[in-house]
Amino acid sequence: MNKILNTNKLLHGGDYNPEQWLAYPEILEKDIEYFKKAHINEVSMGIFSWSMLEPEEGKYCFEWMEEIIEKLYKNGISVILATPSGARPKWLSDKYPEVLRVDETRHRNLYGLRHNHCYTSPVYREKTRRMNMELAKKFGNHPAVIAWHISNEYGGECHCELCQEEFRNWLKDRYITIDNLNRAWATTFWSHIYQDFSQIESPSSRGESTLHGLNLDWKRFVTDRTVDFTKHEIQAIRDAGSYKPTTVNLMYDYQGLNYHKFADAVDIISWDNYPQWHKKEEYLTAMDNGMQHDIMRSIQKKPFLLMESCPAATNWQPVSKLKKPGMLNAASLQAIAHGSDSVLYFQLRQSQGSSEKFHGAVIDHYGGDDTRVFKEVTKVGEDLERLAEITGTETKAKAAVVFDWESRWAMEDAQGPRNKGLFYKESVEKSYYAFRKLGLDADVIDMEQDFKEYQILAAPMLYMFKKGFSERVSEFVADGGQFILTYWSGIVDETDLCYLGGTPHGLMDVLGLRSTEIDALYDGEENTGIPVPGNMLGIERTWKCSNLCDLVEISTADVMAVYGTDFYQGMPALTKNSYGKGNAYYICADFEQGFYDELYKKIAETVNLKGALDDIPEGIEVTTRCSEEYQYLFVQNFNRHAVKISLPTDGAEVLLGNYDDGSIAGLETIVLKRKNK
Ligand code: GLA
Ligand code: ZN
Repeated sequence: MNKILNTNKLLHGGDYNPEQWLAYPEILEKDIEYFKKAHINEVSMGIFSWSMLEPEEGKYCFEWMEEIIEKLYKNGISVILATPSGARPKWLSDKYPEVLRVDETRHRNLYGLRHNHCYTSPVYREKTRRMNMELAKKFGNHPAVIAWHISNEYGGECHCELCQEEFRNWLKDRYITIDNLNRAWATTFWSHIYQDFSQIESPSSRGESTLHGLNLDWKRFVTDRTVDFTKHEIQAIRDAGSYKPTTVNLMYDYQGLNYHKFADAVDIISWDNYPQWHKKEEYLTAMDNGMQHDIMRSIQKKPFLLMESCPAATNWQPVSKLKKPGMLNAASLQAIAHGSDSVLYFQLRQSQGSSEKFHGAVIDHYGGDDTRVFKEVTKVGEDLERLAEITGTETKAKAAVVFDWESRWAMEDAQGPRNKGLFYKESVEKSYYAFRKLGLDADVIDMEQDFKEYQILAAPMLYMFKKGFSERVSEFVADGGQFILTYWSGIVDETDLCYLGGTPHGLMDVLGLRSTEIDALYDGEENTGIPVPGNMLGIERTWKCSNLCDLVEISTADVMAVYGTDFYQGMPALTKNSYGKGNAYYICADFEQGFYDELYKKIAETVNLKGALDDIPEGIEVTTRCSEEYQYLFVQNFNRHAVKISLPTDGAEVLLGNYDDGSIAGLETIVLKRKNK
């Protein structure tokens, strides 16, 4: 049971724009027939419908929507209703040009596209409020409507004077005095001292672009502005008397907003997932994708929604590749395995014109239900019905990786050891993949989130330590936690000022070392980490490293591996320090994946942390969800061939898939249900 959405069904459906088809009643009839056939139980409506809902200022036309919602309801299909603020009608920008966005070069955009509006503009806020209130009054308590979809894929930033003024106010709240701000941003450097908040301007490629504190605070401000706008939209709905849950749909690895700040703004997180399947081996795409699911789930640490995915091929990626048979099913069930309570598509019916006319859909231009894609979608629908009891169950990870937006912003802006590529995301992936290959569920959190519940916490390249982070880590380790930190961590505070007195700041005693220098390697240059004979972890292999090599001075740590070459040959490359009841590990260099796989396996063994399966063949993904009583074990084969595998079927029920011959077919998913231990 998903208590937030008050449903015990996994949702299956997606973006539906019937307003494009009002002149074709027979098509609208067919839609309902096909939805039922494909086991579609939800549609997301109203996304980008503003000019159909308010064709003239103050004239609201909701009849068409009402008719459709009624029809859907009668047919047992629920609605996630969107606020239409993702795109505006032309009359609105013509009459009130202030609603249009100003770019960083200080030019106001023309009307067009979507997400081309200012989140500060009082007019835009007022028009959105009115629209949302009208919608909420009309449909906000309709039994078909199960949730609110706020806007669509918030993103971008506005540099208009109204936003600049808000930025200055935001800074005043944060720093109180201009002296505090000057100190925090180190403005004595290059004579950039401000006398007054009124002098501050947003970063621009035509002006200030290298004041790192300013850049970082601007990014934080853009997030806060967007979250504030989200709350403004929700408030209108609440003021009109609708208390249905809300969601925002987030995007893959989007850097423009710190998504963690939405955790408290909405009731449930959702996201739009468009992997480029078949570009590399499917299991590699699946791991990358799995990490994004886990990032989204970890924002609220509860089930999320897959708001969009493509049933066929997209039309905006460089190559619009078809999904091979079975791929849609595997990808869809992967979302469920990682904690989604839905598989929703963009789009249910393919639009006839404009920029997404060739984007894949459940029903294409041909218009029949006898297509390959329609059949694959139907199969997903059937499987989701079979898995209905999983709705609302949770993921209980014992391992986590820190992947922090703000630290990433700062690190990638700082001119430092390797301006041509630090590979932060890749370094997080290495830790995450190492956990997942052991069959461990993993959360991917930011540094402000609680991590007491984990047995192992990895913090790769955590350049920024916010206030209190090192204290929380010290406690975690003292209480028995296993903590893994890497090179280029704990370097700066939260306004990007370098810590004085040694790094990793505040953790030198926990790690038993100090980082003294960091060597950057040219592309193609390599070093190695050679295990120290008899090291207590039992690390056996020599591994390659590249990009960054940290040179550390040991106080109490034990050295597990040393560098193989260069002037720092023989110096520590991997260390372990006992601290209280736990241990702190330090990875000195950017090692290849195999190093992480070996190391994390050994560390997990030391605390007896076991994945859901002992032996996981390559390309198989193992993930679990739990209710109080049961564990649901998802075993997914992301190879295109069958694989022999030993599954713990004793006392378990095979809820989905076929395991009769002791193997799992290519792109197949097996779900086992067993009593929680
Ligand atoms: C995004 C948007 C949708 C649509 C799809 C196409 O996720 O939210 O409106 O444009 O992309 O893939
Ligand atoms: Zn603005």
